[in-house]
Amino acid sequence: MRIDDGVKREILARADIGEVIGTYVQLRKRGNDLVGLCPFHGEKSPSFHVHPDQGFFKCFGCGVGGDVLTFVQKQENIGFTDALRMLGKRYGVELEDEDPRAARVRSEKESIYHANDVARAFFHRTLLDPREGAAAKEYCANRGITDATIAAFALGYAPPSWDALVDELYRNDVAAEIAVKAGLIRPNDRGGYRSFYRERLMIPTFATTGETIAFGGRALGDQEPKYLNTSTTPVYTKGRYLYALNVARRAAAKEDSVIVVEGYLDCIALHQAGFTNAVAALGTAFTPDQARELRKAASRAILCFDADTAGVDAALKSIETLTAEGVAAWALRIPDGKDPDDFVRRNGADAFRALLADPISATQVKIDAEIDRQSGRIAPGAFAGWAEETIRRLAPQQEWDRWRVYVAQRLDLSPDDLRRARMMLNPLHFAPRGAERNASRHFVPGAMERPSFEREVVSIVLDEPSLLAEYADRIPPERFDNLRLRHVWETLRSHARSLVQPSDVRAVFAGDEDATATLASVSGVVVFADTEERRAKLDRVVERFARDDAEHRYRELDREMTRLIEASQPVPSDLRAEHAALAAELKG
Ligand code: UTP
Ligand code: MN
Repeated sequence: MRIDDGVKREILARADIGEVIGTYVQLRKRGNDLVGLCPFHGEKSPSFHVHPDQGFFKCFGCGVGGDVLTFVQKQENIGFTDALRMLGKRYGVELEDEDPRAARVRSEKESIYHANDVARAFFHRTLLDPREGAAAKEYCANRGITDATIAAFALGYAPPSWDALVDELYRNDVAAEIAVKAGLIRPNDRGGYRSFYRERLMIPTFATTGETIAFGGRALGDQEPKYLNTSTTPVYTKGRYLYALNVARRAAAKEDSVIVVEGYLDCIALHQAGFTNAVAALGTAFTPDQARELRKAASRAILCFDADTAGVDAALKSIETLTAEGVAAWALRIPDGKDPDDFVRRNGADAFRALLADPISATQVKIDAEIDRQSGRIAPGAFAGWAEETIRRLAPQQEWDRWRVYVAQRLDLSPDDLRRARMMLNPLHFAPRGAERNASRHFVPGAMERPSFEREVVSIVLDEPSLLAEYADRIPPERFDNLRLRHVWETLRSHARSLVQPSDVRAVFAGDEDATATLASVSGVVVFADTEERRAKLDRVVERFARDDAEHRYRELDREMTRLIEASQPVPSDLRAEHAALAAELKG
């Protein structure tokens, strides 16, 4: 989709980069900058800077930088157009040019979000109502769910009434067919509608962008099913989202790890106990979509799973999916067949923290599962060969030795048995070690670039684009050594007369990631008090060019004169005069 330049300009003019980034990162004011912990790499001391005046951010730790659109794209892992759309929505700028079909689909989605929001607010109010919500409040109290948790997770209660929700949606202008598509109500047999959820504790799921996308309804007693969930709707597909990722994201990014549990209430209980990086996969093994969602928040996952066969199978599948998406996985076996909710409630947060401190590696989960599955079926004489083959299949090569020790212990094999097995499998068992896999990627910052005139000039124009018109012709692009800055300058010159405020400059380069990063890297390089100081600096730059040219010419003339004199030839008088004039000028 092509987006009108005027719309880009409008959005960039209205979007406040400090405010937008501030919703993801805690920022503190330091001088003209806002400073915080970089969301794009793990760090303990803040090297992430935002320059609100110029509209750029950059991280001195990992080198990432750009404007508000770059930030939203990276943070949300979305494309340029979607980032524009998100900011447009937030700052009330209509994106035009959308084809009518896409517009219809979008407006249907928006309507469903609205319907879900109305329902969420209604359920929440009902839970807080002392009379109507009494039974559900008691249920929460019995499960140790505090009022603060109820508020933080926007928990609610669907009353017994068939039509209270239907009426509420109607009062809020939600069309019945939209509410049906959202899965909130269903047609009844009298030509009207009835609520889908009744007498249930309502747990809303939010997208990371804040929209209410689905509900889980927990029966207060033993009614079946225990949970009634939103099935597929135009805004929700089971297995695509992670419950509570919207609240867990910040803590997850900070710790670079996510705790994954199975159930809604496990997740909620962990948050309440202070493990605010917990999310729930909601009863399924991880899907690639969920793994990618998780990957946006952190690069490590710790899976809590049941020790029963189904639990182990789900954990194995999840580990495989996560690993394939580049997330390193560990597992926690909660003792006594408890789920995390039971466990923290009974044993406290410290006991859970102790479990977390010693997670089981993905390799061990796989090897344990293999041993449990196969050990009964293999003749004891074949154990060693089977163990060696399993280790080679499941563990990275540099860890083979430690898994040999581990498996030998579990299967009661002697080191000799294993050594023989190794020789059988591969007589040349001293295989060359593979290069370290998964070596962490370190960012090696380049040498600090000195602020040169090029960076200063661009930085000044970012502050005050109207100066461009004045200086565009006097600072030719050929003067720039840095080719990226030269490209930026060339483009700026061609727009010289139409750029008024800093956001206009960003609009010119919106979508050009390279150029935007270049701009971010020079933003805030120099700080001038006012237009006069900026002009003075630009004037000095222009004067420098003249001086450089004069020096160049002087050296040229000097060489020529020396050549003539050494060859005993006459020096033309105009040449001599120019040389003298330049010498005087350069001395002054
Ligand atoms: P569990 O049966 O392990 O329940 O289901 P739980 O999480 O411990 O629930 P509580 O503590 O009894 O309330 C795990 C998850 O599987 C999904 C839910 O997401 C649940 O949290 N589930 C379970 C359903 O969707 N429907 C069901 O009927 C049961
Ligand atoms: Mn439970």
